[in-house]
Amino acid sequence: MVGVCPFHSEKTPSFTVFPNSQNFFCFGCEAGGDVITFIMRSENLDYPDAVEFLAKRVGVEIPQNGDMPNKGMSRRRVYEMNLEAARFFRACLFDENIGRAGMHYLAEQRKLPLPIIKHFGLGYAPADFGALISVLKKKGYTDAEMKEAFLCGISQKTGRPYDYFRNRVIFPIIDTTGNVVAFGGRVLDDSKPKYLNTSDTPGFKKGRTLFALNYAKNHCSDELILCEGYMDVVALHAAGFENAVATLGTALTPDQARIISKYTQRVVLCYDSDEAGQRATARALQIFADVGVEVRVLQMHGAKDPDEYIKKFGRDKFAGLLKQSRSGFDFKLSGVLSRHDVTLPEEKIRAANELCDIISRVYSTAEREIYIDEVARRLSLSKESLTMDVERMRRRHYKEKKQAEMKQAQVTAMSVGDRINPEAASSVQAAAAENAIIGLLLMYEEHRLAVQRGTVELSEADFFTDFSRRAFVEIMKLQSSDGGFMFSLLGESFSADEMGRLTRLEQARRALTENSTAVLRTSIEALRTEKNRITAKSADPISGIEQLLAAKRKK
Ligand code: CTP
Ligand code: MN
Repeated sequence: MVGVCPFHSEKTPSFTVFPNSQNFFCFGCEAGGDVITFIMRSENLDYPDAVEFLAKRVGVEIPQNGDMPNKGMSRRRVYEMNLEAARFFRACLFDENIGRAGMHYLAEQRKLPLPIIKHFGLGYAPADFGALISVLKKKGYTDAEMKEAFLCGISQKTGRPYDYFRNRVIFPIIDTTGNVVAFGGRVLDDSKPKYLNTSDTPGFKKGRTLFALNYAKNHCSDELILCEGYMDVVALHAAGFENAVATLGTALTPDQARIISKYTQRVVLCYDSDEAGQRATARALQIFADVGVEVRVLQMHGAKDPDEYIKKFGRDKFAGLLKQSRSGFDFKLSGVLSRHDVTLPEEKIRAANELCDIISRVYSTAEREIYIDEVARRLSLSKESLTMDVERMRRRHYKEKKQAEMKQAQVTAMSVGDRINPEAASSVQAAAAENAIIGLLLMYEEHRLAVQRGTVELSEADFFTDFSRRAFVEIMKLQSSDGGFMFSLLGESFSADEMGRLTRLEQARRALTENSTAVLRTSIEALRTEKNRITAKSADPISGIEQLLAAKRKK
């Protein structure tokens, strides 16, 4: 079964699910694995959490103190600690003494109504180095855990922990399932840095999270408003635009665009009106084009951002701007027209070229036609000549794309730049033999048994690359464990990317008809020969000569 890949941006499907072997592989980005790997990737979970996620879905209880390996703190514990922290920050904000400055800032200076402050769970971190730490300690969290969750830092001088967020209003960041995953904290004045944010952890990736999507997700099926700042979102929700979300202080990522595309038909970009905001708009247009979401661009005059605009001109004026928002193409068109004086023939040609280039990258034929009409009208040029230019450029882009793909395929074929198995590059033959061996072992119990019982001789030492050796060791470990071999269990020892590679090796064998023990033996033989050849070649000359002499003496 083939579909558009959820892990990279594409229009022609290359994501393949193999129902027989119960796994998937994307020929575009090489993501692959089984259902657990899929969940690890799509939900950004580690192995134990992915298993738990799936177990929950089918109603299976996983014992908490089972033998799941626990690297560092579990994600659930981070979320529980974050929730405690969010409660503490909120209690501080609503405390008449401790929270006075924070409440004054939010309610008076930023004019946020109380219900909105409560709705977003806003809080205040007191100007104290140990307030949160002492609360979390009482709840049983260790310094190391607080540090891992970015709630405290450790002083280099004294080695003692200190609260990370101090004297800041706090915006909890909540994921779409309701976990508090991170915090943003704003200063109350003009000091720097204006915001502090939780850094990326295994349980939290800025580039895959959107502020307020947990609230907006039920209000944005038609249209979603994307803006830059926490404050913009809060102000928009307060004004009744509950479909607003923001990225977390970074430029929009393709991951975020894909997430957004799951929830809405159309995005209105509402970035700041400064130059940086306009540049970010142009970039976002491209990113959304790749995931196929309609984008409109809202233009504000007389205010820097939506928060300021609504304060100055009111919600109705903002609703008007939303209605007048322009298509992404319009935005680019006026960009080009503002850069060229089209009353001069040369400038007009340049503008037409830039516009044809933009149009030539549009996927839909109908859309291209509409844009050509528009440009023809604005530049008083004939539709026919513009169409010809656009088509010529489309052919050129197509050719360039094909060439780039060819080159990529060659690079992959030569295993150059193979991140997962970097050593494969130094011997194509050894790597090919290993790939066959690992693929066969993954596919048939018969082969694993043969190796386990010694009917086919194969050991760790036979392998040339570290990746294949690890794969071999883990496969055989599972084979001789009580539960026996199961592909899924490899997920405990291999990353999602590595699982993708293992899936590909297995699929590659499945595509072939000849997978008998004879093939296994031949591959092992080929691997040994190639390995010997390489070792002989690279061995230092003296020991090589000594070896020869030793061999002669024996004779
Ligand atoms: N940001 C950040 N760190 C900074 C500055 C900004 O993480 N030092 C992020 C925040 O998520 C912020 C967004 O970038 O919300 C937009 O920044 P900016 O426009 O400067 O802030 P506003 O949201 O407009 O905040 P305010 O209105 O309170 O000044
Ligand atoms: Mn602002």
